[in-house]
Amino acid sequence: MCGIVGYTGKEQAAPILLDGLSRLEYRGYDSAGVAVCPEGGGSLCVHKAKGRLKVLCDLLDGGAAVKGTVGVGHTRWATHGAPSDENSHPQVSRSGKIAVVHNGIIENYGELKDFLQGQGVPFTSETDTEVVAQLVEYFQRDGADLLTAVGRCLRRIEGAYALGIVSADAPGQLIAARKDSPLILGYGEGCSFLASDVTAILRFTRRVSYMDDGEVAVLTEEGIACYDHLMQPVEKEICRVDWEIDAAEKGGYEHFMFKEIMEQPEALRRAVFPRIREGEVFLEDFTLPEEYLRSMRSIHIVACGSSYHVGVVGKYHLEQMLRLPVEVTLASEFRYMDPIVDQRTLVIVISQSGETLDSMAALREARRRGAKILSIVNVAGSSIARESDQVLYTWAGPEIAVATTKAYSTQLAVLNLLGLHMSRVLGSMAAEERRAVLEDFRTLPEKLEKVLANRDGVQYYASQYFNRESVFYIGRNVDYALGLEGSLKLKEISYVHSEAYASGELKHGTISLIEPGTLVVALGTCLRLFDKAMSNILEVRTRGGDVLALTTESRAADMAKNANGVIAIPDAHPMLLPLLGVAPLQLFAYYAALMRGCDIDRPRNLAKSVTVE
Ligand code: G6P
Repeated sequence: MCGIVGYTGKEQAAPILLDGLSRLEYRGYDSAGVAVCPEGGGSLCVHKAKGRLKVLCDLLDGGAAVKGTVGVGHTRWATHGAPSDENSHPQVSRSGKIAVVHNGIIENYGELKDFLQGQGVPFTSETDTEVVAQLVEYFQRDGADLLTAVGRCLRRIEGAYALGIVSADAPGQLIAARKDSPLILGYGEGCSFLASDVTAILRFTRRVSYMDDGEVAVLTEEGIACYDHLMQPVEKEICRVDWEIDAAEKGGYEHFMFKEIMEQPEALRRAVFPRIREGEVFLEDFTLPEEYLRSMRSIHIVACGSSYHVGVVGKYHLEQMLRLPVEVTLASEFRYMDPIVDQRTLVIVISQSGETLDSMAALREARRRGAKILSIVNVAGSSIARESDQVLYTWAGPEIAVATTKAYSTQLAVLNLLGLHMSRVLGSMAAEERRAVLEDFRTLPEKLEKVLANRDGVQYYASQYFNRESVFYIGRNVDYALGLEGSLKLKEISYVHSEAYASGELKHGTISLIEPGTLVVALGTCLRLFDKAMSNILEVRTRGGDVLALTTESRAADMAKNANGVIAIPDAHPMLLPLLGVAPLQLFAYYAALMRGCDIDRPRNLAKSVTVE
């Protein structure tokens, strides 16, 4: 959700903070702020502004207007209190000497606020975060130093937090604390950083460590000291981030989303090719023992958003490959539903960010019940990756656009590879069949390049249909799963009402909504059910709806007999068709949003990494 960045060193802090925030804006963008300890001491300089980061940048002349070498910055995705200057972070204590940036939710803030107000502390915002600033100051009333006061405060607060704290009385120092919300420490030459996401500091350092829950760190220009929840020093492992800086830049594209759609063939090459060796799947560092896989009785996939949609495709594919029951559940439901999961269940958590709070909570719930956890994650070192028994990385590179694209396709590819690997261990799939899929995997990136090269066709259809009030996505089997993702993409970024239905369910209600002018995107890549798709299309047309269909090149001419328009993708093994089919749906949503004048990379009310419930 919100983005946090902090710097302490010899350079001017404000331009560094604003640069970092510009790379974190996808995490939240309803307001932004910075607090800088002024050179030579005195009160903190705190500047905040409602609206996009640009408002703050203009206000501060790109940072030149604020002097000081230590500070914290924040982009906000509002939870407590509407977006406003007052509710923006940093939140400051009564004296103005302590400033706090926060991602997460302080659940007992009401009770703490009552307590502090009872002590005569006035509050100026509606945020939960302000209690942290006020409480730290309260705990300094006996002269305690900043770290001690923060430690006392952390013992009182409940909920999730990544915190960055500066104090006018502790110049040169920055305090970081984490519980259930990501926070990264960066090690520079004569400077130190904190950030909620590595992209914020990649320009300045590639040496980072990942804070664990309960840890507190003190950052100075000399280095970083980290402590556990008992304030015992902890030695952090420093990792080197090898993401290219350019990968997190737009590189000449108008939108990150478009760039990331176009990067998919390359991302798939990275995710797939090193994992195919001598006609078999080779999963790096795969430590789940084969005996364990053979003892597995079921698989349960948990995830949120698009990652959940990957799981829905995965259910069809894995059941087919493994002949084992596969459940797929939204992480937010799983965590509260008393799931039937035990030592013989493999729980697969899918997450681009590796930080989604519900997915994390589902992971912990599954572990508590004895399940083994395998995660499919993009961001190395993220919380979900670190808490899993087995991680498979998607190697998609940084994904910045809120609407995920390359993460979806690489997750799906990796899930398929995992299924193929397990099918060999379980002997549940003929070797020739497995080889046929793997053989086709080799040509997949090229085929996807062809789909993307034909984007003009999709753009044309978007120009025809972008102003429809309602769009329904229908399909059977994996086409239904694909429809879920196509529909989500469209509503996320273009704000067109859209729903996905299993085609067979049309007659059980949805068909009453079909009237002249309704657009139905009919997915027909599951060729064994092609005739059924054709019948459903006719049912829609008979009621005056327009049908834009998606199928393979070999069936496009047949499809064109019933549909108003057809988008064709190259033929491939059925298991790989969703990987080709998703790209036109992403492009359709993209062009529709573009034509509707929407802010594609920063859709309203959304955030990329959802670290609150
Ligand atoms: C947010 C993003 C989605 C993403 C979902 C799950 O809602 O906007 O694109 O699919 O979170 O995120 P994760 O990082 O766990 O895959």
